[in-house]
Amino acid sequence: MKAHHIEEVLFSADQIEARVRALVHDMAEGCRSENLVLIGVLRGSFIFLADLVRELYRQDVHPRIDFMTLESYGSGTESSGTVRVAKDVGMEVAGTDVLVVDDILDTGRTLSFARQHLLALGARTVRTCALLDKPARRSVPFQADYVGFTIEDRFVVGYGLDYDGRYREVPHIACVTFAG
Ligand code: XMP
Repeated sequence: MKAHHIEEVLFSADQIEARVRALVHDMAEGCRSENLVLIGVLRGSFIFLADLVRELYRQDVHPRIDFMTLESYGSGTESSGTVRVAKDVGMEVAGTDVLVVDDILDTGRTLSFARQHLLALGARTVRTCALLDKPARRSVPFQADYVGFTIEDRFVVGYGLDYDGRYREVPHIACVTFAG
C-alpha cells in the first residue's frame, strides 16, 4: 500500500442519501418489469445496492437481487486492463431485465464487460447504474443509464469503495491523496 492520506469529504452521507432517493425516483418507472433483477458488482457496490433496493421498495419496485464478482484492479489503484468473472451470478438471468449496479464507472471496462456477459447469458435487457462516474478516465466508449454523481479524476474511497481493502465502511465519500 502506498503512503496516502484521506482528504476532504467529497460527498457527505446526507448528500449521498438525497442523491440515491432522487436517482430511484427517476429510475422507478423504468423498473416496473416483473422480471427485474438487480445485479451488484462486488465488492464495491454492496452499500449502494443495499440503499438502492430499500429506496426502490418505497417506490413499490420489488426486484430479485444477485451479485457477481468481477476483477480488473489488483490491490492498487490502476486497472490491469482486462476484466474477468471471479464469481458469476447464481440465478438464471435468461429472459430477465437486468440492472447492473456498480460503485464507480472509470475506464468503462467493467460495466461494458458486465453488459456483454449478461446479454450472452440471455438477459432480455441490460441497463447499468453507477453511483460515481469519472468520464475523464474512459478508455472504452461507455455510458451508464443511471449515474449518481459525476466526478473529476480523483481516487475516492468510502460508501463501499476501498483502497487496498480499506475504508469501505466509511459512510461518506472522500478523496485519497498519495504521497510522492
Ligand atoms: P472500470 O475502469 O472498469 O473500473 O470502469 C471500475 C472499477 O474500478 C475501481 N475504481 C475505483 N475504486 N476508488 C475505488 O475505490 C476509485 O476512485 C476507483 N476508480 C475505479 C472500482 O472497483 C470499480 O468497480
